[in-house]
Amino acid sequence: MATRARPPLVLLLCLCLASCLSSAIGGVSATGNGYRTTAFLVDEEGRRLRAELAAVAGAGGGSTAAYGDDVQRLDVYASLETDSRLHVRIADADGPRWEVPQDVIPRPSPEFFLQTSRPGRPVLSTATSDLTFAIHASSPFRFAVSRRSTGDVLFDTSPNLVFKDRYLELTSSLPPPGRASLYGLGEQTKRTFRLQRNDTFTLWNSDIAAGNVDLNLYGSHPFYMDVRSGGGAAHGVLLLNSNGMDVIYGGSYVTYKVIGGVLDFYFFAGPSPLAVVDQYTQLIGRPAPMPYWSFGFHQCRWGYKNVSDLEGVVAGYAKARIPLDVMWTDIDYMDAFKDFTLDPANFPADRLRPFVDRLHRNGQKYVVIIDPGISVNATYGTFIRAIKEDIFLKWNGSNYLGVVWPGNVSFPDFLNPRAAEFWAREIAAFRRTLPVDGLWIDMNEISNFVDPPPLNALDDPPYRIDNSGVRRPINNRTVPASAVHYGGVAEYDAHNLFGFLEARATHDALLRDTGRRPFVLSRSTFVGSGRYTAHWTGDNFATWDDLRYSINTMLSFGLFGIPMIGADICGFGGNTTEELCSRWIQLGAFYPFSRDHSAIGTVRRELYLWESVARSARKALGLRYRLLPYLYTLMYEAHTTGAPIARPLFFSYPGDVETYGIDRQFLLGRGVLVSPVLEPGATTVTAYFPAGRWFSLYDFSLAVATKTGKRVTLPAPADTVNVHVAGGNILPLQQPALTSSRVRQSVVHLLVALAEDGTATGDLFLDDGESPEMVGARSRWSQIKFSGATESGGSVVRVRSHVVHDSYAPSRTMVIAKVVLMGLRSPAPPKGFAVYANGVQVNASTAVDGGGGGNPEKGALGVAHVGGLSLVVGQEFDLKVVMTY
Ligand code: NOJ
Repeated sequence: MATRARPPLVLLLCLCLASCLSSAIGGVSATGNGYRTTAFLVDEEGRRLRAELAAVAGAGGGSTAAYGDDVQRLDVYASLETDSRLHVRIADADGPRWEVPQDVIPRPSPEFFLQTSRPGRPVLSTATSDLTFAIHASSPFRFAVSRRSTGDVLFDTSPNLVFKDRYLELTSSLPPPGRASLYGLGEQTKRTFRLQRNDTFTLWNSDIAAGNVDLNLYGSHPFYMDVRSGGGAAHGVLLLNSNGMDVIYGGSYVTYKVIGGVLDFYFFAGPSPLAVVDQYTQLIGRPAPMPYWSFGFHQCRWGYKNVSDLEGVVAGYAKARIPLDVMWTDIDYMDAFKDFTLDPANFPADRLRPFVDRLHRNGQKYVVIIDPGISVNATYGTFIRAIKEDIFLKWNGSNYLGVVWPGNVSFPDFLNPRAAEFWAREIAAFRRTLPVDGLWIDMNEISNFVDPPPLNALDDPPYRIDNSGVRRPINNRTVPASAVHYGGVAEYDAHNLFGFLEARATHDALLRDTGRRPFVLSRSTFVGSGRYTAHWTGDNFATWDDLRYSINTMLSFGLFGIPMIGADICGFGGNTTEELCSRWIQLGAFYPFSRDHSAIGTVRRELYLWESVARSARKALGLRYRLLPYLYTLMYEAHTTGAPIARPLFFSYPGDVETYGIDRQFLLGRGVLVSPVLEPGATTVTAYFPAGRWFSLYDFSLAVATKTGKRVTLPAPADTVNVHVAGGNILPLQQPALTSSRVRQSVVHLLVALAEDGTATGDLFLDDGESPEMVGARSRWSQIKFSGATESGGSVVRVRSHVVHDSYAPSRTMVIAKVVLMGLRSPAPPKGFAVYANGVQVNASTAVDGGGGGNPEKGALGVAHVGGLSLVVGQEFDLKVVMTY
């Protein structure tokens, strides 16, 4: 919280001297009648503006009167911070208030002092920025954000701005739902990905099971993306505020009702959806690179009994020949649920450690859970050290006492730098006993099994946010809002940051201890958490609805800059069924984070337990493992540009309004389309295919070709999920194996799916998968771009590589052994082939599938398998395939 020096008023252009004076005298308590602009200043470039507002004195009858007195004087700072980012900050002119700390989200300070002024209108607009900002001429104060290139109004606030100590309200009008499609705001389980009229999003991190729709869950992300039909231009809006709030999407408006902090808005110009997430993650931080192994399949359960149980599960996967990269253990491994301890009876170190060593020898990994609550126990080393360091959250003068699994607990206050140090030491010491490869941080909303009584006004603010959908007190099932953090910060303000701070401390601790790329999975998240952690959607239920809704949450977290996301496969709570579990692994095999997890007391659901599920798993995970180089390249893209790994269809087809409502399918990257079965009893799936050619990833046949986009019903036999690649894409694949480390040692195949115009492109990123940085001065990586094109009327296909960067030495021994060409424009299968690599004819094996199979729509597009190649990945090549007919 920085205090600001206000520039002398004489520098400001007073719009109305009389009201300036009266507001300076102050004293009148208005009640939500809005504010009037008393002065403003714009710099000469038209990039920055500062305005002063004064509360409009009212008769006292405003509808928000009960929420307290208005703050009398506000400052508005608006700034085109980059050509694609506008910052509008409305804060109390007379003193600092709580704001998201700079150390959580570092950002340029808006506290500029305008030396020069530009008389005229309170407008920000430059020749290079597509966003403009304007204060309306009429009183009370309102502002609008528009897109210069189209004139489209993106955000347009109403006059009833409310700014009180514990209640802030701002409304913007929006075009009707047909014109604007909104996505984001969370965390909530939603029935649809696209926001529906009258959706309310309460942001107050809570341990509420994800199986509940429309309630505030574990994380807070006051960010939405708005896609406008008629061009598909997208922009993003962030309210950077960590206080509790309700955000109401009314269809033609959005209203923020916030119980503290300041109104700190950021607008991201897009105009493509990918540009929006790029601009957004540039501000909030890029997603952390995840280790290569974390893209393998994970198995977990709450309720594993002992080490033999874990061994049996690992053996069960191996026997069924289902890939398994990571074995997990829930709170069961702990001694009386104390973090950093082992249950001496069931998970003793002398059994668990050899088990983990065996996993490691087999190229597998091990992850365990830890919870923030530290058992209050005078014989427990971690507790004793925490007391000595004095790092617990305080309440009413003492360490706050809550109740979680171990009974009475206190919580490290991660705003205290000493708490992060303590945490790092505990993690390092624990890893000496058990060298875990990653950490799962749960219950960090903070979850508390008791409801703290109110101590002061913070525990029961005048406006009750819609906590848990019943406006339950904000203290319920968490630590009290009146608890006090390091530096005197109230839990009331910092509540939504706890999971973020714990994830950061855990990430940094692992990095320091291992020197390798950390893997952290956090239940609670905030804006920017993607810099440190992966996320899973929390406690879903084993129902078909929750299977379906998992796509919505996954896509939302892609927008939030947390691309490593997945749901508990086969469902967490309740008893799953064979059919549900089978369909769930078919979808879950394509979650960026793919983990089977279930609750204690429910039927077990390891994928080998039913033969039909095992078949689905082998097929879907088999494809996932072959796609690992592609998925990992998407991680690189996410880390460098913020692009989600799993994306809504409109990311690749923003001009196609049909895609705006699609949430039963999704894309991996730009061009791999997953169309899962989401209903019981189904043996077909009706899927939407945007304009272009779509090839099956199982047999490479052309499944759909459409000029405009269309819905197609496809067979979806019990063991099969439909996965297609769009023409225009080149996918690097490797060979299936039971662990990702084995996959990494196999040869590469390139799938070249030619678009209608005979071209295709693709990327491959390679590194060791575990160095802390993916790209950086000390890291070694290779990046290769592939392009394909037809020549001579389609009888020649050229595939070329361009090595953009090559410091990862194994790229020089890895080879591409096969290239599959899809979408050959041949009236009949070619009679002969000649294959040239870098101008020299090579003795390649070739095989062709005639395309079409009698289906006129498929035409006669053929597939050619050009094998027996050994093109070195790290050396540029030019492959020419000449077909004679
Ligand atoms: C709640 C988590 O959401 C769940 O995944 C876990 O199994 C239980 N806590 C027990 O640790």
